[in-house]
Amino acid sequence: MLKIAVLIGSLRQGSYNMQLANTMKERYINKWDLEFADIRSLPFFDQDIELNPPHTVRAFMDKVASADGVLIITPEYNWSVPGVLKNAIDWLSRVDKVLIGKPVLTAGVSPGMMGTIRAQMHLREILASPGIQAKLLPPAGNEIYISSAALKFDETTNRLVDESTLRFIDRVVDRFVEFAH
Ligand SMILES: Cc1cc2nc3c(=O)[nH]c(=O)nc-3n(C[C@H](O)[C@H](O)[C@H](O)COP(=O)(O)O)c2cc1C
Repeated sequence: MLKIAVLIGSLRQGSYNMQLANTMKERYINKWDLEFADIRSLPFFDQDIELNPPHTVRAFMDKVASADGVLIITPEYNWSVPGVLKNAIDWLSRVDKVLIGKPVLTAGVSPGMMGTIRAQMHLREILASPGIQAKLLPPAGNEIYISSAALKFDETTNRLVDESTLRFIDRVVDRFVEFAH
């Protein structure tokens, strides 16, 4: 069974992006084992402490390093990725550079019409940089950008319930599992 570390770009309690992560954890329980990697407790990246970082950073880096792949689910903030996610990625890009060659799938949810597309474009550029060089699932046919969230998530169960979106994600996850093996 694939072990996948999940990074969520929103810290908000009712986060749609977290709801998508929970939906994907439960729906594909037989395909992968999703483990949430906490980015809330990471300090701001500081090059002065990168060789001897606090325990939270080390635990976070270890979790990602030991995973077979990474799933990044993020909202769009001001046409890019939230700073809290960028900070986490900056930690991962240094010293052991644990994302190099690591299979990565990205996804995002927004209440608006654009479904985080601008943030996803930025994220892809970031993931290609020299300290990161993630092995990104090729985007063609695999872009999980969910718009109009209020219409697609159930506010009682806090899960994605839109059938055609779920069927699309089913196919992308199958391709990612094959890609990561
Ligand atoms: C600081 C900030 C900036 C935002 N910028 C954008 C944006 O550029 N594009 C967009 O579609 N939504 C934007 N939004 C709205 C978010 O898509 C919305 O709050 C979303 O629910 C956040 O994801 P979450 O539900 O997982 O927390 C922004 C929200 C915040 C708080």
